[in-house]
Amino acid sequence: MTRNPTGKGHHGLNGCSGLGEIHLRLRDRRFSLILERIPRSEIIPASGAGPAGLPAIRGEILRTNVSEQSEPNSQAAEPRLATAVAEIRSLVADARRRGERVGFVPTMGALHAGHVQLMKTAREECPFVVASIFVNPTQFAPHEDFHKYPRPLERDLAACRSAGVAAVFHPAVETMYPPGASTFVDVPALAQTLEGAHRPTHFKGVATVVTQLFQIVQPDRAYFGQKDYQQQTLIRRMVRDLHMPLEIRVCPTVREPDGLAMSSRNVYLQGADRQSALALSQALKLARERLHQGDKDLPGIRQAMHALLSGTPSVTVDYATLIDPDSLAELAAVQPRMVAIIAARVGTTRLIDNEVIEVK
Ligand code: PAJ
Repeated sequence: MTRNPTGKGHHGLNGCSGLGEIHLRLRDRRFSLILERIPRSEIIPASGAGPAGLPAIRGEILRTNVSEQSEPNSQAAEPRLATAVAEIRSLVADARRRGERVGFVPTMGALHAGHVQLMKTAREECPFVVASIFVNPTQFAPHEDFHKYPRPLERDLAACRSAGVAAVFHPAVETMYPPGASTFVDVPALAQTLEGAHRPTHFKGVATVVTQLFQIVQPDRAYFGQKDYQQQTLIRRMVRDLHMPLEIRVCPTVREPDGLAMSSRNVYLQGADRQSALALSQALKLARERLHQGDKDLPGIRQAMHALLSGTPSVTVDYATLIDPDSLAELAAVQPRMVAIIAARVGTTRLIDNEVIEVK
């Protein structure tokens, strides 16, 4: 039952402008019936006081309406912030009781448009979206940037809000790893190449924390970015191997207008390094163009990628290669679907990027 084709009805409700403005996209039609029985003069903001018995009903209607809105926007409701496992479980349990599909976007915060796109996609598919913000210590090596990693919580919460996220799980390290925690999840077949060769403990930390987060949130769908190609491949394998009851969705990489893949670490890029960082997307483009032109000389293409990267001031290559999309093995010959993948340091900032390349 749709009252307002503009989809902006919840503004009207909060602003007391009357029933005619309400956009009802409720799964549970019970709410729409209750709503119709509330006289226009009695519709008040959720925080206001009304006749005995009504505020609880209104609160529920408002919350449901906001979480069901189809277009995420800047006036969405404040996400609920949960730091304890029991808190987030209870919020998810409430959503389940309402019959809502639960989407989940795990992040380490310092959110940018790439993260927000994952949240918006989740919100398009799931009425109840949970995001986690947790800088996971077990995926950082001792010399890496765990302590320096940006943690702009207020800004992150505003980004979650604008994307229509209903609840944010932001646990302390001791919540995720209480004293004596000693269980780890490992996917060795995919964790040792590429990133794993340079960051040997990284994916064990990722697989472990993602398993914990899945156990805590128990989402129907979880959203990951293609930007971390090896990570999403490994997580999909882990979910399959352990029969985890959820669906993994992978979303395209969001880029700056000049091609730089968005990353929380881009804030580290100072001065000329920001320009040098474009070498990664340029080397991917070079690989794509040569393969699309029918070039079958993979060693030659790898060499050209390396040359472009190393020829750029302050860039040091960790790897720049062409791999199989599923096994992540280095390719010896051209095949219909390939991934060009790069990790490089620009000054002291380590960046990764990739592109799926298809040829006929
Ligand atoms: P983080 O780097 O914060 O990334 C969270 C999610 O955002 C990942 O799925 C990542 O692939 C995606 N993402 C990052 N940059 C993106 C971009 N430019 N476009 C699209 N998606 C992008 O990845 C992690 O955190 C952690 O390893 C985590 C999975 C949360 C486990 O700690």
